[in-house]
Amino acid sequence: MRLRDCHNFHDFRELARRRLPSPIFNYIDGGADDEVSHRRNTASFERCDLVPNILRGVENLDISVTVMGQKLAMPVYCSPTAVQRLFHHRGERAVAAAATEYGTMFGVSSLGTVSLEELRRAHAGPQAYQFYFHRDRGLNRAMMQRAKDAGVNVMMLTVDSITGGNRERDLRTGFSIPFRLTLGGMLQFAMKPMWGINYATHEKFKLPQLDEHIDMRGGAMSIGRYFTEMLDPSMNWDDVAEMVRNWNGQFCLKGVMSVADAKRAAEIGCTGIILSNHGGRQLDGSRTAFDQLAEIVDSVGDRIDVMMDGGAQRGTHVLKALSLGAKAVGLGRFYLFPLAAAGQAGVERALGLMRSEIERGMKLMGCASIGELSRDNLRFR
Ligand SMILES: Cc1cc2nc3c(=O)[nH]c(=O)nc-3n(C[C@H](O)[C@H](O)[C@H](O)COP(=O)(O)O)c2cc1C
Repeated sequence: MRLRDCHNFHDFRELARRRLPSPIFNYIDGGADDEVSHRRNTASFERCDLVPNILRGVENLDISVTVMGQKLAMPVYCSPTAVQRLFHHRGERAVAAAATEYGTMFGVSSLGTVSLEELRRAHAGPQAYQFYFHRDRGLNRAMMQRAKDAGVNVMMLTVDSITGGNRERDLRTGFSIPFRLTLGGMLQFAMKPMWGINYATHEKFKLPQLDEHIDMRGGAMSIGRYFTEMLDPSMNWDDVAEMVRNWNGQFCLKGVMSVADAKRAAEIGCTGIILSNHGGRQLDGSRTAFDQLAEIVDSVGDRIDVMMDGGAQRGTHVLKALSLGAKAVGLGRFYLFPLAAAGQAGVERALGLMRSEIERGMKLMGCASIGELSRDNLRFR
């Protein structure tokens, strides 16, 4: 199986499964507890059908959107994800380059393996920085200042990870950073020697967003301990309001799900919210972003930009979310499996397929621009 054999999400997932040691594949693929939310994320798009219009003159398409002040050539962006250089040795470098090639935004995780400064220097397109809130307020201010100095366009505070989700696949394989593999997990690595060669012959693994501030070297601090010891479970609305004031620019909360929280986000000056259950990796049994979208758009859509992520695998999924009022849709595993399968070429192929699907879907729907999509295009079963 080669990259050219990949025509959809499932093909990329299969190629990634063949290339990655299974503990790493399962880290990407898995969710929390019984993975109910993870499964529902994609299934939720099938709850409604598209109702196309015909004979509307769709020769000249415009699928660009403006979200949080950023012009995106297509209505999807690469949502921030951790430790990408474990999936492919070029990691964030490959994702940022592919996103820029397709004119869209990429998010850099606090747990990213390439520095936000390097990525900012290399690419002119919109860049978001995904932030976790630390107990040490001085550290929060220093990290935000660093992002500001680097020229990050959008601050994205993740609010659904006040504690880590229960990822049972990782418990079974022993996946953690640094690695604490079970014997079975080690055998799985031995079965994928190419991954090991690539890992060992390229730049050493590091977490540059954190390294400057927290000693993550030599196993001094695991990512699990980072969550429990460094992040602040007492984080509240006043803390976030202060961050929004300090940042004084485009600021969104990632992981909002309730109407009350969406309203509060608008009140404290956020310019956007992302409905998300973290790809089903945090609170299992939580509602899907797509199911929750309409009521949130109705309550705050005229005041702030509402985005969503979770489960999007097809252009038609994106069109459904946009029809309900989302301004853009975040992609996670949709680009991570291609990254693992084939690096930048993989991510570019996946984004290219997504763009073609969106364009084809728009034409078949009778819509020449994203603004023409509306709830009239949808019927729920
Ligand atoms: C392997 C992996 C790592 C992730 N790391 C982060 C992260 O560091 N910060 C964050 O806010 N979200 C993280 N996410 C969540 C994504 O940003 C996004 O919300 C989610 O993947 C969307 O669901 P999807 O994968 O079904 O598209 C991660 C997701 C995956 C699959």
